[in-house]
Formats: sequence, structure tokens, C-alpha cells
Amino acid sequence: MIPGDMSNQEITKVQELIYTTRVESVMASDVIVIDPSMTMSQVKNFMRENRISGAPVVAEGKVIGIVTMNDVIRSMEDGKLDSPVTEVMTTEVRTVLMDAKVAEVVNNLGRRGFSRLPVVDHDGKLLGIVTTGTLIRSLLLQMDKSFQKNEAEKLYTYRASHIFQDISSDDTGLTLRYFVNERDFDNAGKASSLIKRSLQRLVVQPQIVRRVGVAVYEAEMNLVIHTDIGGEIVVEVRKDRVNISTVDHGPGIADLKQVLQPGFSTAPEWIRDMGFGAGMGLANIKRVSDVMKLTSDPGHWTRLEMVFNFGPDPLLPKVELEKSLTRGSQ
Ligand SMILES: Nc1ncnc2c1ncn2[C@@H]1O[C@H](COP(=O)(O)OP(=O)(O)O)[C@@H](O)[C@H]1O
Ligand SMILES: [Mg+2]
Repeated sequence: MIPGDMSNQEITKVQELIYTTRVESVMASDVIVIDPSMTMSQVKNFMRENRISGAPVVAEGKVIGIVTMNDVIRSMEDGKLDSPVTEVMTTEVRTVLMDAKVAEVVNNLGRRGFSRLPVVDHDGKLLGIVTTGTLIRSLLLQMDKSFQKNEAEKLYTYRASHIFQDISSDDTGLTLRYFVNERDFDNAGKASSLIKRSLQRLVVQPQIVRRVGVAVYEAEMNLVIHTDIGGEIVVEVRKDRVNISTVDHGPGIADLKQVLQPGFSTAPEWIRDMGFGAGMGLANIKRVSDVMKLTSDPGHWTRLEMVFNFGPDPLLPKVELEKSLTRGSQ
């Protein structure tokens, strides 16, 4: 690859963080909210005093709408400044669940032109707000932190990386299996972060670990969001590549071509209200993997296979080189 050539497959540190960071840790928790009893004229003054251009309207802790400067301007033009805010606000509010990964926010902000997303807990109560500003600030902070790898992690890395060296066979493979439950948003993303960590310890190249991280997160979320009874992720690490597959037992996919289109999603409204289901998952997987194969028997099962080649840098090539050098000099 030509240096500086931004190939589609190249995953930056920031993109990696987006897929590993929880929304909760990038939100601003001191949210300025609008009371539903306010009139538009009160909203106008309130926004000016607080120097904000929009805010969620909150009743009993829950977001019931969102009002922006545009709404204020429109009510001024229409001579409706005395109207209650509840008549003017947008009531179809996209929110995001605190446990979701920042990737979901980015998929939503990017595709729909939203500039702020209220963050909610599992009961729909408002916890904070994410804007592009809060996002950038906290990602920069995280970048700093993530460069420090602790001593314990170095030891694990040392031990794990010796597996391929210590076990002798013509073709060694290591199989890792993860079970994912349907609708388990508390644990969603856990398998993919364990997979990433395992690959890091096996000293797979960082760029490939990042790509796997993106793909396997999206695949895991699809098991959580779209399956009837969850499914399984199988990771097979070989010397020259990693094969990953997810399998589930329904509902299956009727039109494979359709689901591969960016932005296409069958996620129900309540799942979209938690920030998931922007329809970018399979498109992202396709972009970052070397081989992707989606097969399904509608009504029965779905299987997604992905391959990531290590290319000219297979696992532990240096060790083999050393061996053959010693042999040669004896
Ligand atoms: N394991 C699966 N079982 C059934 N349908 C699936 C599965 N994975 C993906 N799909 C279908 O493919 C669509 C697109 O998936 P994706 O691109 O990840 O977007 P999203 O998950 O945001 O909807 C989903 O909305 C769903 O209809
Ligand atoms: Mg998806």
C-alpha cells in the first residue's frame, strides 16, 4: 500500500476508538433541558441566556421532544411565540443508549444530519447529551490514555504470542468461541472486545486487529439486534489469516442483496430509539474485510463468514527465520 494513500480498508486509531468506547463516557452529563410548560418566547430567552442552539424537552426525566433555534425562528415568523413548546418541538427524537458504542452515534449523526443525540438509560431516562463537540474532546482524551499499555498486559502478550511457536504442527489453528444473546444490550460488544484483546496478545498486526474489531462488533450487534435466539461467533486464528464466522438460527434473511445496501435496516423503531440500526453494519464489514460471505436459509439460519489475511506479515515470521538461520549455521 502506498503510504498516505487512504485506502478504504485503512482503519485509524480514531475509528478504532469509536468502536470500543461507550457512549456514556463521551457524553456531557450537565444537560440543559427545557420544561414542557414553557412557551416559545420563554424558550427563546432561555436559549439565549444559556448560549445554546437547541435542547431536549424533558418531562419526568424522559425526553419527550427536542427544540432548536430553527423552531424558535419559525415561531417568530409565524407569530406563534405564545405557543407552548410542546406544540412546536420535534417529537420524533432519536436517542442513544448509554451502553451503545460511539460508532452508533457516528452512524446516526453522519447519515441523518443530527447534531445532538440525547443519551438515555434502559428506562428511557435522560442521562446526558452527545454533540460533535463533546465527541471530539473525549476522543482526544481517550487517545492519550490508550497509548499506555500496562505491564500485566505485556506479560499476557508475551505468553500468548508463544502458542504458535511452542505447539508444533504442519498447520496450527486456534479456535475461540463466543456466545451472544439476543436483545442483550448490557453485554453487546463484549465478545468483540475480547476477540480484539486476544488477537492483540497473539501479536496480530494492529491494523488487522482494528479491522477485525470493526467487523466483529457489527456482526455481534446483528446477532443481538436481529436474531430470535442469539448466535455464536467463531474465530479461527491461523498463521496467515484469521477466519471469523457468526451463525444463528433465525429468522434468516430473505433478500441478501437488499440487506447489503448501506442504510438499509429492518430494526424496529424501539431499537432505533436506542441509537442502533442505522443500516451501516454489513456495509462496514464488507469494507474492512478481505473476504465476506453472507448466506441464509430464510426462516432457519444465517451465516456470515469473514476472512482477514495477514499478508506479507504472518504470525511470528521472525521466529522461523531465526530457526532456519541457526540450522543453516550448524
Ligand atoms: N443475523 C441476521 N439475521 C437476520 N437478519 C439480519 C442478520 N444480520 C443482518 N440482518 C439484516 O440485515 C439488515 C442490515 O444489517 P446492517 O447493515 O448491520 O444494519 P442494521 O443492523 O443497522 O440494521 C438488518 O436490518 C437485518 O434486516
Ligand atoms: Mg447491524
